[in-house]
Amino acid sequence: MSFVMHPVNRPAEGVPPVSQPAPAPQPTSASAPDPTRAAGDVTSRWQAVAHATGLQRADGTVGQTIFAEMTVLANRTGAINLGQGYPDVDGPDAIRELAVDAIRAGHNQYAPGDGIPALRTAIADHQRRRYGLTVDPDSEVLVTTGATEAIAVTLLALAGPGDEVVTLEPFYDSHAASIAMTGATHVTVPLRVDPADPGRGFRLDRAALRAAVGPRTRLILVNSPHNPTGTVLDDGELSAIAQAAREHDAIVVTDEVYEHLVFDDARHVPIASLPGMADRTVTISSAGKTFSFTGWKVGWLHGPAHLVTAIRTVKQFVTYSSGPPFQHAIAHALTDDSVPQRLAATLATRRDLLCEGLERAGFGVSVPRGTYFVVADGAPLGHEDGAELCRRLPELAGVVGVPVSAFCGRASDGGPSATARDLASRVRFTFVKREPVLREAVERLGALSV
Ligand SMILES: Cc1ncc(COP(=O)(O)O)c(C=O)c1O
Repeated sequence: MSFVMHPVNRPAEGVPPVSQPAPAPQPTSASAPDPTRAAGDVTSRWQAVAHATGLQRADGTVGQTIFAEMTVLANRTGAINLGQGYPDVDGPDAIRELAVDAIRAGHNQYAPGDGIPALRTAIADHQRRRYGLTVDPDSEVLVTTGATEAIAVTLLALAGPGDEVVTLEPFYDSHAASIAMTGATHVTVPLRVDPADPGRGFRLDRAALRAAVGPRTRLILVNSPHNPTGTVLDDGELSAIAQAAREHDAIVVTDEVYEHLVFDDARHVPIASLPGMADRTVTISSAGKTFSFTGWKVGWLHGPAHLVTAIRTVKQFVTYSSGPPFQHAIAHALTDDSVPQRLAATLATRRDLLCEGLERAGFGVSVPRGTYFVVADGAPLGHEDGAELCRRLPELAGVVGVPVSAFCGRASDGGPSATARDLASRVRFTFVKREPVLREAVERLGALSV
């Protein structure tokens, strides 16, 4: 497949897609046959997941994610871990106490499969208060085990073999994994930095979007604010996605877990709030990023009742329900926007600290408008291979990041996708760490410029 001829990673006629199930059943290691496969079985889904997420090695063995590899590296070397995106300070004590109170009050048996009524109501109120969306808490909301489960069960319910699911590229790794679980084909649309206007950061390639969405598109899975680039899609980009979905009768699934974490004059707009879109959009979010309780895994989705019914049908046999004390705490927390507002304000300061430090160290920096990640380019420092740079960064500067190529697809020959090659020298760093930690990281990174 020529990526010059097919700049959009949409499979041309007869050409295999960017991400597809593993081409042939592979043993788990050179010596051990795959114990999960019965005789005559076609490729097992787990292999498709391993393939789509880059975990399947050439010899058929399965590796660990780059996040796990980099965390091991950070622990072994004592480097500052700016690779994994979770806060080093828990959310407010008052919210933590609400969960403790809920345990003491006896909320310790199965919660209802849809989620406790107080949380479903709080989610519907939140969507009305912030975005003017009308959501019925009884038929249009489902509480999930984090956004991760919401994404997986939505895709499993709504897509299958023969369908195409379109995402942005780079993409959050669980998106690729969930698509692979469904057996659908993953089609990607790149986010690009315009060399003539780098200050705008990574923007949607609208021509590529138009080329990628077609009659086989079942779902368009959008993530904004976007991990890893920090892009907050603007009105024009959101409208282009909505138009493509309407034209081809596709459902939009949006991952909005960073909805509160936007900076400067950026504004998060849910696609569901665009004209005609509420009926064809499943909106996903979670409390992990918003309140700095990522381990609680309280997530949710909402959408039109017929889609929520379809998703509930799958979800009730995955986890059924989880974490009732945490659901009680988040039901209360969601009524007050001041906690995420304060978090966003301190994150903006921390973003500036890290971005300025990376620039001083010689990286090219795309300043993010949302999330808690920044993408930095190692090319100006002579590091063309971001993955290689990440493996050496603990020794060079005592800091750990993750290569952006880990958020990209692969070509049909197993090599990097066009976007992965385009972004080969980029590294993602998180700034959701305490200021002294970031200051120390910035000082250490200064070693790269000498
Ligand atoms: C874009 C995106 N979606 C979903 C998640 C996972 O959300 P949760 O922890 O609620 O499952 C993450 C976590 O990093 C993320 O970055």
